[in-house]
Amino acid sequence: MKRALFITFEGGEGTGKSTQTALLAERLRQSGNRVVETREPGGSPDADAIRKLLVTGETGRWSVTAEILLNYAARESHLRQTIVPALENGAIVICDRFADSTRAYQGYAGNGDKHLIEQLDRKVVGDHQPDLTLVFDLDPRIGLERAVLRGGDDRFERKGLEFHNRLRDGYLAVADKFSARCSLIDASGSIDQIATSVWQAVAPHFEDTAG
Ligand code: TMP
Repeated sequence: MKRALFITFEGGEGTGKSTQTALLAERLRQSGNRVVETREPGGSPDADAIRKLLVTGETGRWSVTAEILLNYAARESHLRQTIVPALENGAIVICDRFADSTRAYQGYAGNGDKHLIEQLDRKVVGDHQPDLTLVFDLDPRIGLERAVLRGGDDRFERKGLEFHNRLRDGYLAVADKFSARCSLIDASGSIDQIATSVWQAVAPHFEDTAG
């Protein structure tokens, strides 16, 4: 039996989660599941417009409060226009980043208002919480090397190692707080090793469908 499932991938930069979202989507499709791959910020036309505001310009363009509000504005559109319709159609939604990114980036690493984040989360995400969240954990120095090798994106360097150490701690705190839906993935191994860990976390959610 096929079933709707909402899976989110989380973690710092250079942790390899985008590669793994694509591998998981492919594996699930091969088992006959309908899969919608999406990402944040973005994932709907209006949310993509907000993404452009968030990821371009100077590092200090937005206050942390503005970043929280913009991310939740984008998330509201993404949920309404993409995620919820896909789940209602019985698809598996795989989302590269979601609300835990706001908790970790703005709440922990950016020292933003965690109470505001949870208030917005109740209002915007409400009952549409992920069924499963894979939190990719990696030493930020390794993530930095990988991000540099990948090229083209220097946000990691611009924010600095200290920010990314706080980010890692933030993700560990989030995984602990929401332990019922979060699985910690050791992202230091090879692509195959990480894919195996991802599958071990995902498979129990639909043992009878994905094989
Ligand atoms: P990425 O698509 O390369 O992961 O870039 C998205 C950036 O936005 C990344 O640096 C993480 C950041 N981000 C936040 O700071 N808060 C959020 O809520 C989300 C979804 C992303």
